[in-house]
Amino acid sequence: MSGIAKNAASSFRRQAPRGAKSWGRSLPSISAKNNFADANPEIDPAHFQPLGTWGSDKLNASRQENPFMMTWVPGAARHSVPNMTHGEGVYLFDDKGNKYLDWTSQAVCANLGHDVPKAVVDAAAQQMATLPFVYGGIGMTEVRTRLNQLMSEILPGDLRAAVYPSSGAEANEAGIMMARRFTGRQKIITWYRSYHGATANAGAATGDFRRWYGSDEVPGFVKAFNPFPLFFNHGGPNATEEESVQAALNMLEEQILNEGPDNIASIIMESVVGAGGCLVMPPGYMQGIRALCDQYGILMHVDEVMVGFGRTGKLFGFQNYEGVMPDIVSSAKGISSAAIPMSMTACNAEIMDFFEDKPLGWGSTYQAHPVAMAVAYENIKYLIENNIVGRSANMAPLFEACMQKLANDHPSIKQYRAIGMFGCFDIQDTNGANPKLQHEAAHQAFHKYKQAYIENGLVGLHRYPHIHCAPPLSITEEELIDGFQRLDRALDVLDDALGFEKEVQLETAV
Ligand SMILES: Cc1ncc(COP(=O)(O)O)c(C=O)c1O
Repeated sequence: MSGIAKNAASSFRRQAPRGAKSWGRSLPSISAKNNFADANPEIDPAHFQPLGTWGSDKLNASRQENPFMMTWVPGAARHSVPNMTHGEGVYLFDDKGNKYLDWTSQAVCANLGHDVPKAVVDAAAQQMATLPFVYGGIGMTEVRTRLNQLMSEILPGDLRAAVYPSSGAEANEAGIMMARRFTGRQKIITWYRSYHGATANAGAATGDFRRWYGSDEVPGFVKAFNPFPLFFNHGGPNATEEESVQAALNMLEEQILNEGPDNIASIIMESVVGAGGCLVMPPGYMQGIRALCDQYGILMHVDEVMVGFGRTGKLFGFQNYEGVMPDIVSSAKGISSAAIPMSMTACNAEIMDFFEDKPLGWGSTYQAHPVAMAVAYENIKYLIENNIVGRSANMAPLFEACMQKLANDHPSIKQYRAIGMFGCFDIQDTNGANPKLQHEAAHQAFHKYKQAYIENGLVGLHRYPHIHCAPPLSITEEELIDGFQRLDRALDVLDDALGFEKEVQLETAV
């Protein structure tokens, strides 16, 4: 018996390098597949035509033959989004000659619209020409040093930039690792009404429906209610704002005690909840969280990915809350105005010092990528030199007046919130109820609305029942008013599709 096994094994024996010992085994049979690829595979000669020269027919045929996936919508949706050809200012153009006003700065990130400032293009080209890449652990670069100094100069207090990953999710991953290693604790508290990214931990930190795709299985995350639950008011229906804030903080404290304060590394929150509906925290709430964090030795991690770098009229959203200094700040999007994938995680001096003699324990090949840093460096200087943040603050009254007018004119709008150049309407049905809970498919009315939105020359992100308004921070007053007028016409269609009569005015609870 053992002789047969030995023979069978020896017939499969391979030549082993000297010093290595292999174990003979019989391989499972596999069905042969042609995995042969020529070193110089035959490719479509049209690839050698310059970018910008493929026409619509060629593009559509290629997309039919070579599918790719979409992210938060089914793959087939790639056939129903426009073929964008170029951008100019706050506008995007498609191959059918349509011109769209970008009403959400894409995913609230193209904050300077669709012309990249020349200084940014030149800086990227110069960096690519001189030193396109050095791995962050192998060599230092001038641009990393200069960007880091600039960050120290613009971040308040003792916050300092620690790492420069490539996406918002990665910036949160780095922040989560920082908090866990610094405190020696594992649990992270986050809110249901939140989005923090789609990597494992950032996905688990997320509260909205995108967590359900698989991140729910990641351990170590506890969900809490922020001051904006959908169906109840903290402190009861008649509570004052102050009482509601106190009740929300009481609930959070009780959760902290039940989870065991010594187990909780950080509380992560968006300073202004973005995709979840432009939720601006009521007075006292962020200060209350800061106090709870101090009391229980928990780190306060503020996610500035969507609103950082000027969206709210302040450089960072948390600067809208008097006296509130986070321990960890993650940012992305506006750091490069979306011209290149780039993000940043900052921390306070004590955390920075803690890691002087130990590794962070999080990294990625393109962390501190020189070309990305050159883009961010020039972009931030551009924001400062052109007072883009101040501009966002100065436009806020006009922005809010336009939001108010639409809320008055459209019965489908239940309420709105606005800060800086960021706003969101909540849509209601004729019963005053929420017409799109997260687990439900969108109401047909929203399909008609989306069609009208496009026909009126708007392009943007849709997260029903919310309607976000976040045009590029570079938009002019005339363009802003024009954008709200386009939205007004699309909202007429929504009112109608939801069954509102023009004259019917619901009593709206704001
Ligand atoms: C607040 C917030 N955090 C994190 C992220 C994730 O960023 P990214 O998509 O770059 O990973 C987003 C994206 O929209 C966001 O809005």
